Amino acid sequence: VPRSRMIGAGAYLPARVMTNDDLARQIETSDDWIRERTGIRQRHIAAEGETTADMAAAAARQALEQAGRKGEDVDLIIVATATPNHTFPATAVRVQAMLGATGPRAFAFDVHAVCSGFVYALAMADRFLVSGQARTALVIGAETFSRILNWEDRGTCVLFGDGAGAMLLEAGEGTGTPADRGVLTTHLHSDGRHHDLLYTDGGVSTTGTAGTVQMEGREVFRHAVVKLAEVAREALDSAGVAAGEVDWVVPHQANLRIIEGTTRKLGIPAERVVVTVDRHANTSAASIPLAFSEAVRDGRIQPGNLVLFEAMGGGFTWASALLRV
Ligand code: ACO
Repeated sequence: VPRSRMIGAGAYLPARVMTNDDLARQIETSDDWIRERTGIRQRHIAAEGETTADMAAAAARQALEQAGRKGEDVDLIIVATATPNHTFPATAVRVQAMLGATGPRAFAFDVHAVCSGFVYALAMADRFLVSGQARTALVIGAETFSRILNWEDRGTCVLFGDGAGAMLLEAGEGTGTPADRGVLTTHLHSDGRHHDLLYTDGGVSTTGTAGTVQMEGREVFRHAVVKLAEVAREALDSAGVAAGEVDWVVPHQANLRIIEGTTRKLGIPAERVVVTVDRHANTSAASIPLAFSEAVRDGRIQPGNLVLFEAMGGGFTWASALLRV
């Protein structure tokens, strides 16, 4: 059976680091408060003029280099982002031009599912690769959330950061069992009734501005642990593997307590969970590919490993994917 295989991973973080103490000099908060409730110690913030497309392209170049591929080898680029360069065209086509991925088969588009965006984009790329419509796909999560934060709202501005991560996939073959290398299963969900718990108070057709992030933190937290554990379990059951067979969980990095609560529910020990939220904070769609890339590049995630992704974000959207690297 056709399978889409991971052949490269890359990441980009802006140079500027903002610590909790830096924030405490601007607003009424403290390093202790932020660390105790979220596990976050610092976040990276894009420089003036540094855009989502710039970061996406940087992460993509690293993934291409790792796989020994060039931009022109890529048929499909999907960028998951809630903070695009422009209202249109898609950030993905900007990245396409930057990478020279403009061959006769090439196409590119953005996906918008906020923090679940990368898993949504991965699911789509997998379908295009498996159906033969694309041979090589770049799936990128990239965000400049710093531009849609109200820096006076301590309930939200301490939680987010900027960055990008990329995964390069190629069409391959497998036997149809969980032993295959490639994307084994993906699961997507949304429920628009929860709009008011996590959203921006602006938009092109409403206020004509981007708005800033608005959140009912406690309610989001309550939904997150339940939905994340459910959708992760759905992936395991669908692929016919036990939680004990998972080598690495790469969760969306929103909050250390959400990550721990979810993996505890699944019965997966903390040593098998990739955590970057302490250094990156919540980078929305970029958090999973950033964490994945870090663990691939430092050798924790090895060829043949079974890796579980799980994410939840505004909408609500929530999603999971299981792949063998
Ligand atoms: N520093 C100091 N005090 C703060 C801060 C801050 N940065 N932010 C809020 N407070 C205060 C509040 O004003 C409140 O004070 P009060 O009791 O005098 O009114 C007090 O701390 C408690 O506020 P809560 O919001 O109830 O605090 P809680 O323990 O719920 O923690 C948090 C807040 C960290 C946001 C938590 O609810 C959370 O992590 N929720 C999940 C949200 C999340 O991760 N969203 C990301 C997007 S969704 C996703 O990616 C899954």
